[in-house]
Amino acid sequence: MENQNVFAGRSLCVIEDFSKEERMYLFEQVKILKKALEKQDDQTLEHYRINDKDFGIYEVFLEDSTRTKESFRNAANFHHAKVSELNSDSSSFNKGESYADTFYTLSGYSNTIFIVRSKLEGVCRWLEETCSAYAKRNSLYRKPAFINAGDGKHEHPTQELLDEFTFLEDNNWSTERLHLALVGDLFHGRTVHSKADGLKIFKSVTVDLIAPVELAMPDTYVQKMRENGYEVRSFSSIEEYLEQKDLADKWYFTRPQLERMGDRILQRQAELRRTITFRKEFISLLKEGTKFYHPLPRHKVHPTIPTFLDDTELNGWERQSINGMYVRIVLLALIAGKIGAEFLPSLPAPVLPTEEDYITEVDLASMPVKEKVVSEGVQPIHDGLVIDHICKGDTPSEIRDHMRLISSVLGLDCQKGGEWVSTGHKDENQFKGIIFRPGNFELSRKHLKRLSAVAPGCTLNLIKGGRVVNKYRLHLPPRIYNFEDLACTNEACISHPEQDEGVPALFFRTKDNHFACAYCGKNHTFKEIWKSRNK
Ligand code: CP
Repeated sequence: MENQNVFAGRSLCVIEDFSKEERMYLFEQVKILKKALEKQDDQTLEHYRINDKDFGIYEVFLEDSTRTKESFRNAANFHHAKVSELNSDSSSFNKGESYADTFYTLSGYSNTIFIVRSKLEGVCRWLEETCSAYAKRNSLYRKPAFINAGDGKHEHPTQELLDEFTFLEDNNWSTERLHLALVGDLFHGRTVHSKADGLKIFKSVTVDLIAPVELAMPDTYVQKMRENGYEVRSFSSIEEYLEQKDLADKWYFTRPQLERMGDRILQRQAELRRTITFRKEFISLLKEGTKFYHPLPRHKVHPTIPTFLDDTELNGWERQSINGMYVRIVLLALIAGKIGAEFLPSLPAPVLPTEEDYITEVDLASMPVKEKVVSEGVQPIHDGLVIDHICKGDTPSEIRDHMRLISSVLGLDCQKGGEWVSTGHKDENQFKGIIFRPGNFELSRKHLKRLSAVAPGCTLNLIKGGRVVNKYRLHLPPRIYNFEDLACTNEACISHPEQDEGVPALFFRTKDNHFACAYCGKNHTFKEIWKSRNK
């Protein structure tokens, strides 16, 4: 039986969409292709070529680009495939058409790979999902794949691929150790955000973050780097960095993204730029064998890597940029299924979280009969509900705030009853909240899901005729979705209501029990998600 090609038809929305071993396989292919191009070895090159003029590769760039757009266009030309480009200035985007409708239309014209750059974060993930449903309902021959060519401040996964390839090339192909300094606008730079997961291909990683506080790496990415086992150190300027001895041998500069900054920062741009711009007097302090990299473009008046360094051994950025086309040729060949059939993953593909048992109904018959103990001030109710163990361990004022939110989320705020803060029987210092409501309640599965997402750890008792007839213990769900009043709190996310793209909010629970937006990746606590809901 033939292997299934695991790359065929895949999207690349964030760097983690390709596993470490898949990326290493891709880099092996790039190495072969690069050599074949240098030697003009046509036989080897043919092995990589899609060679199908009906295979549609479409570029949709809603933000400016030279390298990403043109290297992909040249890569597509290498493949002798059909290459198209949407002119966003004159497209029906300007008549208020949604992303979904635009890409449905283009998918219907025999296009299979879309390369998309947009300021909207998470756009490719959404398009992958919704265009797949479109392809199915219209019996399209191939479901479209999406390559993220940079989405707002989120990620730039193909830049990450070419950066990793270049680091490996300069590391003599060793994945043992990487010591990398990231210099510049680490706040807005999506290329450095992709490094949080991208650098996992190296066994031991130290990342030195060099940026003034206004341009510092967002906490989400610093946290992710630490979770991934990297040593992370921070410095506010190149000068401060050079005062210590443990210097990186690879420096990755990024451009201050003035177009994304507010007036307050713009007024201080000269001062901020100075902290992240390399100067002649620093050269003698560098470690031997140091290389500089830059995703480019660099500013012609204020380059952070000055042009007098172009003709020195420090220059790694020109080869890095050239590698971009090789990496993208191979990426297109993999997604088209032209190569990659022999690759066998050693690990199974990660499975998405399923509806694990986070709502458990307690078997009341098996419960020991205990002496009835009623919390202070709470009167037993004849018919109604009691939600107990709310926000156990929080302060009384946090618990009261959250109980108001729970009442509102469950539509319980217009009824009789009350809220109470008490302590557990075992620990007088540990507070918990209790909500009780007399009345007749029929709670659906959706109500239970809502309650577990807003009050994880609570117990719900349904009482009829003075006795508990149903008791549930509710835990943090693996996903939060299908609630119309919820939204990601990142205004630049495709699923944020202000974007009017009709994308429903979807969050996945992370290892540390936060909830990451499925589109832009923004991390939230469960409380943050509910606090920002639209009533
Ligand atoms: N590195 C990069 O994304 O460059 P462009 O903006 O020119 O595509």
